[in-house]
Amino acid sequence: MQPGLKLYLASEITPLWLATEKFLAARNMAPPFWAFAWPGGEALAHYIAGYPELVRGKSVLDFAAGGGIAALACARAGAAHVEAAEIDPLAVAAMHLNAEANGLTIHPLLGDIVGAPCRWDVILCGDVCYEAPMTRHIMPWLQACAAQIPVVMADPGRRYSPKDGFEIIDEIEVPTNLELEDSASRRVRLLRLTPIRNNTLVQHY
Ligand SMILES: C[S@@+](CC[C@H](N)C(=O)[O-])C[C@H]1O[C@@H](n2cnc3c(N)ncnc32)[C@H](O)[C@@H]1O
Repeated sequence: MQPGLKLYLASEITPLWLATEKFLAARNMAPPFWAFAWPGGEALAHYIAGYPELVRGKSVLDFAAGGGIAALACARAGAAHVEAAEIDPLAVAAMHLNAEANGLTIHPLLGDIVGAPCRWDVILCGDVCYEAPMTRHIMPWLQACAAQIPVVMADPGRRYSPKDGFEIIDEIEVPTNLELEDSASRRVRLLRLTPIRNNTLVQHY
């Protein structure tokens, strides 16, 4: 865990995941991604701690923020305004609790902002390419934003991660939980997206 940040996280991972998955599936709700700090979010928090100038004094979006780990790291690093977008209302509730626990201010946004005009100075997104439909949905917008501002994606090597259209700016080894991942740690690449002029990237997903 990123030193100095407190997060409300699941302690009994497997039973919680299974129980809530069943409960939420019956109600057509998403699994509790917000109850875990995913390797992407952790790597972003570490990166921001090392390079606070990326966000200091800036307006930042943590896209698909989960429990808000990267957004909180930005607030702590001195970002002027931090928004954290989520489609899951429970993740938004978790972000409010996590912000309060750290005495930090972030602004969770509930809803799908894909396609919105790019009004931020920087966009961060951690661990977002784990499903094909989601990746197809978000990548053209993120690539379009990358033509205007830095867009940094933390990629722990998920199946639908981009194959091109980025430069690697760092790699961070993040310890993981074997109940969630298939190894005790994951090497997370920090990708700065580069604009794609035509939509050729879509064919990879
Ligand atoms: C694997 S979690 C990563 C959370 C966080 N970034 C981290 O690394 O800990 C992916 C998150 O993306 C969110 N998500 C999926 N589609 C989204 C969309 N269109 N807009 C915002 N959030 C979305 C999910 O609700 C989920 O919380």
